[in-house]
Amino acid sequence: MFKNSTGKLLAYLALPFLLATGCVKEKKTETQTTTTTKAAAAPPSDEIVIGAVFPMTGAIATYGQESVNGIKMALDKINAEGKLTKKIRLIVEDNKGEPVDSSNAVRKLINIDNVHAIIGSVASSNTLAGAPIAQENQVPMMTPASTNEKVTETGDFISRTCFTDNFQGVVMAKFAKETLGKSKAIIIVDNSSDYSKGLAKVFSEEFKNMGGELLGNINEYTYTQKDTDFRSLLQKVKRTNPDVIFLPGYYTEVGLMLKQARQLGINVPFLGGDGWDSPKLQELAGPEAIKGNYISSHFSADDKDPQVQKFVQEYETNFKQKPGAMAALGYDGMLVMADALSRAGELSRENIKKAITATANFTGITGNITIDANRNAKKSAVVLETTPTGMVFKQKVNP
Ligand code: PHE
Repeated sequence: MFKNSTGKLLAYLALPFLLATGCVKEKKTETQTTTTTKAAAAPPSDEIVIGAVFPMTGAIATYGQESVNGIKMALDKINAEGKLTKKIRLIVEDNKGEPVDSSNAVRKLINIDNVHAIIGSVASSNTLAGAPIAQENQVPMMTPASTNEKVTETGDFISRTCFTDNFQGVVMAKFAKETLGKSKAIIIVDNSSDYSKGLAKVFSEEFKNMGGELLGNINEYTYTQKDTDFRSLLQKVKRTNPDVIFLPGYYTEVGLMLKQARQLGINVPFLGGDGWDSPKLQELAGPEAIKGNYISSHFSADDKDPQVQKFVQEYETNFKQKPGAMAALGYDGMLVMADALSRAGELSRENIKKAITATANFTGITGNITIDANRNAKKSAVVLETTPTGMVFKQKVNP
């Protein structure tokens, strides 16, 4: 259970979370028959209601769990600082990592809970399913983690506090070619994920631009979420004899694939993106297969920055685990949201949207956050090596 640093604030903070948990457990999400009305009714004025859409269960559950841990820590800080005159009530909806549940959750938060704004989600395909509903209802929706380019193209109410895949994909192509000196790549794509498809495209273009060779196109070596046996796919990959494999997937499939690849005698490094960043990855891949692979991500717990170290220590005290990228992104996302709320004046959704998109030079744990004209954040990425004892910092890449 999350503990507050000061006993006095505990009741103040605990109530919203009891309510939030209650919402996840008791209420069923709305079915798609709920009609969406343009510009939903004005939210209540005695409190600030923030909806959170995260995968708390299912194949990408660590993303949601880490995010909500980070958000709770941020709310603790927000309440302690007292910059907001009204209390934030957070309502967490579990989208199970599924697009349909994501749009249902967004509808429910708008139509039933009458939220001021929404934070979420993580997987780009999930956010892409919910964002059009938020946009249509003119409810601000800010994702701390969805990196696919299309997410913020949905409309002016949709923003993000993380970098995009156009940046992350280039970082990893350069790492493969320049740092590792690799020149023959295969890309394995999760066909059910907008994130995976987008990142694969950026990597392939950049790798080829730098003179690298792609052994096969990006539609050739594919899988879908929830697959568990990748052996025939990996046999096909092995026959092309690559010197590096780019696998922009999510940790559950990635972990199993790494394990099966090593069992089949594929010993070249695998590279991935932020989707690998989960405390579960090591466990799924096992101590042998996890070694010697690299990912791009948003944050490193090894970062010597005193502010980052303070966050890492507090997180470990609260949750008995090292924070991963999603914990840090959730924390920063909630702080940016609160900062926007403090600058919004009268808390209309229009004012909140304007305040979010005006965010500039916000010092976060995941870097310096400025939301640009396209409602994206240009931030540094880190390259991490996956090892049996966790992710190890390799390099920081500025935009
Ligand atoms: N960037 C991923 C996506 O858009 C989500 C993600 C972010 C996963 C950070 C893990 C950590 O789908």
